[in-house]
Amino acid sequence: MYHGDDSIDLPILGYAEIDDDHQLIWRVWQQVLGVADDGVVGALRRVVEVLAQHFMAEEALMKATGFPGADCHRAEHDRVLAVLERVIQATVAGNGPLGRYVLVREVPTWFARHVTGMDRLTVLWLRGRATATDHTLTAAA
Ligand SMILES: [Fe+2]
Ligand SMILES: [Fe+2]
Repeated sequence: MYHGDDSIDLPILGYAEIDDDHQLIWRVWQQVLGVADDGVVGALRRVVEVLAQHFMAEEALMKATGFPGADCHRAEHDRVLAVLERVIQATVAGNGPLGRYVLVREVPTWFARHVTGMDRLTVLWLRGRATATDHTLTAAA
């Protein structure tokens, strides 16, 4: 059985709160991706759970700092959660191969792409804000 894609490398973005969540999600996914067929729905639900928690944290950071791409980033989060929910329903309805395929192949591929794209952009913004704030504080001191 296929147990993941070793070629996928999850980048570290340089913002601990976000990076720690990403590593947690990656570990959860690695723990559940080899489940038996009757565990695929539960595995997908566990992945959705940790993703949804992380998305809320990221969205709060974007809102607090006025990230201009927040709507686009949030839409990507919402879209993947909606897709995963439909996949769970299809798996529950009997399409086990679809659930397995999404769990093993699509989740890590999507996640790595999202981290490399929207999350990286967001972290650049967050780090820039921190630098600007530090500069302001330094200048005011
Ligand atoms: Fe993220
Ligand atoms: Fe994100």
